[in-house]
Amino acid sequence: MTIERTFSMIKPDATDRNLVGSITAMIESSGLRVIASKRIRMTQEKAAEFYGVHSERPFFQSLCDFMCSGPIIVQVLEGENAVKKNREIMGATNPEDADDGTIRKVHAVSLEKNSVHGSDSLENAVIEIAHFFNDQEIHP
Ligand code: CMP
Repeated sequence: MTIERTFSMIKPDATDRNLVGSITAMIESSGLRVIASKRIRMTQEKAAEFYGVHSERPFFQSLCDFMCSGPIIVQVLEGENAVKKNREIMGATNPEDADDGTIRKVHAVSLEKNSVHGSDSLENAVIEIAHFFNDQEIHP
């Protein structure tokens, strides 16, 4: 059994529609445990840093603007194969391609307003968690 940690964000389109509880319930139903959570406002600087890998993409500025448009929830999730499991329950990036029952299929509005983000690898999970949490804020 591999116990991992991954990083999760509930995006402004979802906080705006009061979906924090519904989405967190879907995460918890999968067996993952929320071991850190806070509601914050992303700054342009933080968004650009977090999504730096996409800085040359045409959607970059729109993505940063959207991520700063309302509150977000940042979370650390822990559990067996947490990175892969969270990606499975989120569904495909584009909700049109997401499997039935996934968070994005159920709740997402569009490719940009896709309700959640989750780390795509264990290496990125470590980096993304460190963007928002220190060790004192994580309580397994
Ligand atoms: P996320 O998992 O947060 O990672 C990068 C985000 O860019 C992605 O979800 C989408 O919401 C957003 N995005 C916007 N436009 C595109 C696009 N054309 N291709 C991929 N991602 C996009």
